[in-house]
Amino acid sequence: MLDPSTPSFRFCESVGMRIVTLDRRAAGAAGGSWPEEISRAAVERCLAVIEARDPLTLPAERAELEQAERVAVAMGSAGEIQGLAWRVAHPDGLTVDVRVQPGLRRHGIGSALLGAVADGAGTLRAGCDAAHPRVRRFLVHRGFSLHGVVFHQRWDGEPRDVPAAFASALLVEPADAQQATSLLADASAQSWPRPTITAERAALGYRRLALRGDAPAGVLLAHRERDAWEIDGLAVLAAHRRAGVGRQLLVDLMRVAAMEGVGVTLRVAQADEDALAWTQKLGFWTYRTWAEFVRP
Ligand SMILES: CC(C)(COP(=O)(O)OP(=O)(O)OC[C@H]1O[C@@H](n2cnc3c(N)ncnc32)[C@H](O)[C@@H]1OP(=O)(O)O)[C@@H](O)C(=O)NCCC(=O)NCCS
Repeated sequence: MLDPSTPSFRFCESVGMRIVTLDRRAAGAAGGSWPEEISRAAVERCLAVIEARDPLTLPAERAELEQAERVAVAMGSAGEIQGLAWRVAHPDGLTVDVRVQPGLRRHGIGSALLGAVADGAGTLRAGCDAAHPRVRRFLVHRGFSLHGVVFHQRWDGEPRDVPAAFASALLVEPADAQQATSLLADASAQSWPRPTITAERAALGYRRLALRGDAPAGVLLAHRERDAWEIDGLAVLAAHRRAGVGRQLLVDLMRVAAMEGVGVTLRVAQADEDALAWTQKLGFWTYRTWAEFVRP
């Protein structure tokens, strides 16, 4: 798996570190399965240390890690977990995530982990906080280039702070999550970042369809996190834009969130000035600037 001529390989050899790889696409390996020698509790401890000591690292999506098609774990000579990486298949391609314990960085572990999960893959995506220069450099030096920057925005307020919206459409909860995700894919075909929600996940979350006459005009999909409703996709079909449909969909969710005492979060491309002006008018603020990279 690791090229023996690379510095990463020589370093790993010299300190007794080894990479254990799990390929869940291989026959017999199901989602949630781990090699016997890796304790799930030790994985959790490693992630918790990274998340506590590196505030620029987003908490790993545990469900994603369990479903990842390939996972690589760096193990020290005493069996401790030094870092891990995983590769996930999304509707729009493969993404990788690599994480190394802060005290063990710049020793070749990240390169070895990336090599193990990238092996045999085509185009790969990866992301990091834009304020993390070392991670940006790590990715660029390994063949990734900046694809775009996304602002993660948030709104918090009380019911009386919720902006007004005209009733320009009828909002309904679609029973069919597949219909909602297909409409989302159509309505956001030209936009970036692309929503990555699947029909299975949409079926578990908040779904609103905006109808004008009998025709679907827009859709909003979201799921509840601990302290906010996170928007997975919000899009209005081109023929129905600039009629207040998007505002009505978003304001409706802001009202739900305000009643529950939580916020609303969404993602907007840094380059999309119209969308940014629109979310700013509704009271959203940027709390994270995320850089997305791609390696052809
Ligand atoms: C990104 C990350 C995984 C890199 O892990 P790492 O173990 O430090 O990676 P490496 O040691 O293989 O490479 C890091 C740098 O150290 C250098 N290095 C490696 N061994 C070295 C050594 N013995 N002496 C000096 N430098 C060394 C590498 O050349 C590399 O330099 P570069 O980035 O300028 O090319 C780590 O910083 C991390 O966990 N960050 C937080 C998580 C995150 O944001 N992940 C998103 C990425 S998908």
